[in-house]
Amino acid sequence: MMARTSLKDNIDSKEVNLISEVNKVKFDRDFQQLDKYYILDGLVEVIVGVRQGLGYYIVREPELTSEELEVYQAIMERLRYKTKPDEQLLTDPLGYLERVLKEELDDFEARNGTSVSMQKLSYYLKRDVLGFGPLEPLMNDPDIEDISIEGVGKPAKVFHRRFSPYDWLCTNIIFDSEEELNNYIIRLAHMGGKHISIAHPIAEVILTNRHRATLTFSREVTPHGPSLTIRKFREKPLTICHLIKNGTISSLMATYWWILLENKSFFMIIGPMASGKTTLLNSLAMLLKPNWKVVSIEDIPELNLAHPGWKPLVSRHTYLLGENLTEIRLFDLVKLSFRERADFIIVGEVRGEEAYALFQAAASGHGCACTFHSPNFESMVNRLTSPPLNVGPSYIDLISNVIVIKRITKSVKQAVRRVTEIDEVVNFREYLKVFTWNPVDDLFEPDDPYDLIEKSVQLKRIAEATGQDEESILNDLLERKNFLEKLVKNNILDFENVTRYLRNFYYRRPSNFE
Ligand SMILES: Nc1ncnc2c1ncn2[C@@H]1O[C@H](COP(=O)(O)OP(=O)(O)OP(=O)(O)O)[C@@H](O)[C@H]1O
Ligand SMILES: [Mg+2]
Repeated sequence: MMARTSLKDNIDSKEVNLISEVNKVKFDRDFQQLDKYYILDGLVEVIVGVRQGLGYYIVREPELTSEELEVYQAIMERLRYKTKPDEQLLTDPLGYLERVLKEELDDFEARNGTSVSMQKLSYYLKRDVLGFGPLEPLMNDPDIEDISIEGVGKPAKVFHRRFSPYDWLCTNIIFDSEEELNNYIIRLAHMGGKHISIAHPIAEVILTNRHRATLTFSREVTPHGPSLTIRKFREKPLTICHLIKNGTISSLMATYWWILLENKSFFMIIGPMASGKTTLLNSLAMLLKPNWKVVSIEDIPELNLAHPGWKPLVSRHTYLLGENLTEIRLFDLVKLSFRERADFIIVGEVRGEEAYALFQAAASGHGCACTFHSPNFESMVNRLTSPPLNVGPSYIDLISNVIVIKRITKSVKQAVRRVTEIDEVVNFREYLKVFTWNPVDDLFEPDDPYDLIEKSVQLKRIAEATGQDEESILNDLLERKNFLEKLVKNNILDFENVTRYLRNFYYRRPSNFE
């Protein structure tokens, strides 16, 4: 489905030049093939391999015969110059495209008496008119996490879920012409409903199907030429149960967070780039009480919550030069959320002055959670308390929980994500390691709810505030832990099912409703 994209933009660009260029790769003796598979209904072949320590991701698209190329060009010509206003073009672009293809094919066959492949032509037309053009195979491979193009004449690179120890893999997709790459960048910006130009050479957009893209135009800020980075969106987000199953977290960690969330604690998820912070934040949010009002605040809408009381807020950028009164920043939205009577406020990523507002929200009794780029507790506190974030040191102990997540390369063949540490904040300088990850045996400590209660200051505070004794907290932990473990054991992992079971869990426990 096309969202906010001008069909004309796509038709005017010249991706046809790239057809079959990508197939011209030759493999030499040093190339060691690691995998071969097919995507896009078996039309596109993917070969993953390694050569002299560098990983490669080679795409082979279907070859067009000269007749097929002729039909393709005729259709593009017709779409570019001859198409009359047609309602179907707006309401059902795919149906329109298929209709045009059928008409042109019938016409070609009647004239020449030979038939050409409808399937191949349909692939290229959808790719170039409605899809992501030359990056279509990468966008359609569910194993690709990120895509990066660092300039003109440089191969597009990908991050592959199953071959992540090789880091970025080089593909055989290259934009050789600056004009072509600039046009492609403009097209992506338009797809996300934004503008990019010499005057505004940077854009962050959400593309069709919610993929996140960071774009730069021409050589204004990127001397190697236009560039792009795409973080692909998982249509079905990873759930808390997936994360337990794949060993990112333990069931006891999830249970502990669940109780903290219910008591409106303040969570900071920290870690390096692409370590899985947003994914963890999204899956944690699935544990929020279904009868709460949850407000999320983001620059780029990445979160995907299956919560009935979810209200997403997204900042607004404008293209005015000079004083900008129409821009709506994260800071403004956090302030707005104070008046929303929200139970829980989630800020996708804290980078600037909104940090201060978020701490105000926590101080006024809201539950809060956010992600933050920082490798550990000390550097997080340093950054938070320095300009431009300027959070007062006395506010730091409002944070209940600091979760550190990392991507760990376990072997040449395997990279995993692990929550390596969970800290409770005692005060500005002091924190308490409640959970740790042991890399030798890949286990989380503690594993026993009783040991956790012994360690955790937060759980003791919750017990005190809610008038519970240790035993009732322990029983609560055990009940929820068993519940989550049962889901995981029975392979109930996906988004819809996990949300349904969690909701049922609350309905069975009416005391949880305020
Ligand atoms: N625990 C996990 N297990 C498997 N894959 C994961 C896990 N966490 C994240 N991923 C995948 O890793 C990629 C990066 O994840 P995510 O966007 O959550 O990272 P991030 O730390 O928020 O990145 P950034 O620093 O860019 O904001 C995504 O493709 C996501 O699907
Ligand atoms: Mg993120």
